[in-house]
Order: sequence, then C-alpha cells, then structure tokens
Amino acid sequence: MTNRVAIITGAARGIGLACVRRFLNDGYNVVIADSDEAAAHDAMRSFDLGDERVIAVHCDVSDKLAIHNLIAETLSAFGQIDVLINNAAIIKQGGALDLSIEDFDAVLAVNLRGAFLAAKGVASYMADYLRNDDDRSGAGGANFSIINMSSINDKLALSDYLAYVVSKGGLSQLTKAMSLELASLGIRVNSISPGSVKTDMFSKVAGDDEAVAAVNSFTPLGRIAHPDEIAGVAAFLAGPDASYVTGETIYVDGGRSALNYMMPDKS
Ligand SMILES: NC(=O)c1ccc[n+]([C@@H]2O[C@H](COP(=O)([O-])OP(=O)(O)OC[C@H]3O[C@@H](n4cnc5c(N)ncnc54)[C@H](O)[C@@H]3O)[C@@H](O)[C@H]2O)c1
Repeated sequence: MTNRVAIITGAARGIGLACVRRFLNDGYNVVIADSDEAAAHDAMRSFDLGDERVIAVHCDVSDKLAIHNLIAETLSAFGQIDVLINNAAIIKQGGALDLSIEDFDAVLAVNLRGAFLAAKGVASYMADYLRNDDDRSGAGGANFSIINMSSINDKLALSDYLAYVVSKGGLSQLTKAMSLELASLGIRVNSISPGSVKTDMFSKVAGDDEAVAAVNSFTPLGRIAHPDEIAGVAAFLAGPDASYVTGETIYVDGGRSALNYMMPDKS
C-alpha cells in the first residue's frame, strides 16, 4: 500500500478510467478530473471506495482557473501530488482545406494547452515541494512523475485529423522539453503513444468491421488494444521501476510503428 496520489485527466471513461482502476489497485489515492461532471462522479461511485481513496473534480483542462482549482482540491483532499497523467483529449475531423479554425483551436486548447496548463501547475507544486523538503529532494528522491497520453499520431500523420495529429506532435515535444527542465529536480516526464484502443474515441472505427480489419492489417499483433494495456504502461512510468526513465515516449501500438508493409491477410 502506498499513499501516493495521482491526478488523471479525462478519467471518466476510456483509457483514463482504466488508469484510475489500475492506480487504485496499486494503492494510489486518485483524482478523477473530467469536463463531463456527471460521468466523473459516476466513475468515482463505481469504485465504491469512499472519498478517502478517490475523488471526482469537474475540470475543463483548457481553463487555467479550472486547473488551479484541480490542484487545490487535490491538495485539500490528499495533501500531496505524486503523479499527473495528462490524458484528456478531443478529436475533430478535417484537413487543412475543410477544418474550421474554431475546431483547430478547440483541439489544440484541450490536447496541448490543457496538458501544458496541468503539467505547469503540477510541476510548480512539485518543484516547490522538493526545494522545501530535504528528505525527498534530489534525483529520484520523490519519484514525481508526469505522463502525457500522446498517440502514435505524434509521428504518423492523418490528413483528415490535422488538428489532432498536430496536437499530439506538440505534446511529445512538451514531454521532451519539460523532461530536460525538470530532470535536475528528479521530476520525470514521459509520454505514452497508443495505437488503436477500444474506447469511445475509437468507436467510429470499432463499429465498422471493414475499418477494424484495415486497422488490424497494419497492426502486427493483429488486434485493437484494451484500455488496461495502456494503463499498465502508465503504472510502470509512474512507479519505481521507471526511476531512470525520462524524456521518453513508449509506443504501445501492437508493433504498428515498426511496420513498413501491410500484414498478410489471414482470412
Ligand atoms: N482510443 C484510442 O484509440 C487512442 C489512441 C491513441 C491515443 N489515445 C489518447 O488516449 C487518451 C484517452 O483517449 P480515450 O480513447 O480514452 O478517449 P475518450 O474520448 O474515451 O475519453 C476522453 C475523456 O476526456 C474527457 N475530456 C474531453 N475534453 C476534456 C476537457 N477539456 N477537460 C477534461 N476532460 C476532458 C472526456 O469527457 C472523456 O471522459 C487521449 O489523449 C487520446 O488522444 C487514444
């Protein structure tokens, strides 16, 4: 049992919710932060653990005041923050010719500005804490960890999801730049880049057999990931086994980014 505390954004469903489940099982106290207030509270109640282990905070990550409030509510409930998972994201279809400027701004506001605001706020708390606490300061002392949920689309582009791929490319650079800045304090910053994962975000494809077959054809493991398979990597990056890992992006994509040709048709 640990008394470590994790804030997970976009945690009311999907990969975020799988991370909540995994971190609670691993003994963390967890903050479910989501812009969908009702879903966040439903998620919290589904664990039946009481507010000593898990709380829900209504938070739109693109809003500076909401991030300020998220950090304040976390500290008021649990007294510390050890891990931040920047997982909240939205996706809008459209390429350079047809994507509206409003949709471009909306995606960047949540996926990139939101991750920056939360990482900046939590890193400031962590840095202040380390400067004032001799016991936990120095490399590795506190094992503070910031994890950005990026995407294989941080390096593989999709022309019809321009804003999303731009946001994820930026998120990977946010990871690297912050990891360099915070390394001397022992705060680690890493990314996870999933391929295709069975969640609401992926539901458009999941309901279409042909589209699923197409995804499988360029996924060497030949299937779509379960959200728990992403949560396991987040647990690794948050924990002591990753104490020497920072500035890294782990591709959890069933081998897709290693592939230079289509997998043979097995049917
Ligand atoms: N599902 C996939 O195939 C896949 C693949 C690669 C990367 N990812 C990434 O994993 C993460 C989680 O994806 P998912 O599939 O679980 O998504 P999802 O759509 O199932 O869940 C996203 C959650 O984020 C919340 N959210 C949206 N806007 C928010 C905001 N402004 N503030 C706070 N919360 C907000 C939603 O309410 C929702 O609960 C995202 O960063 C996504 O880009 C997913």
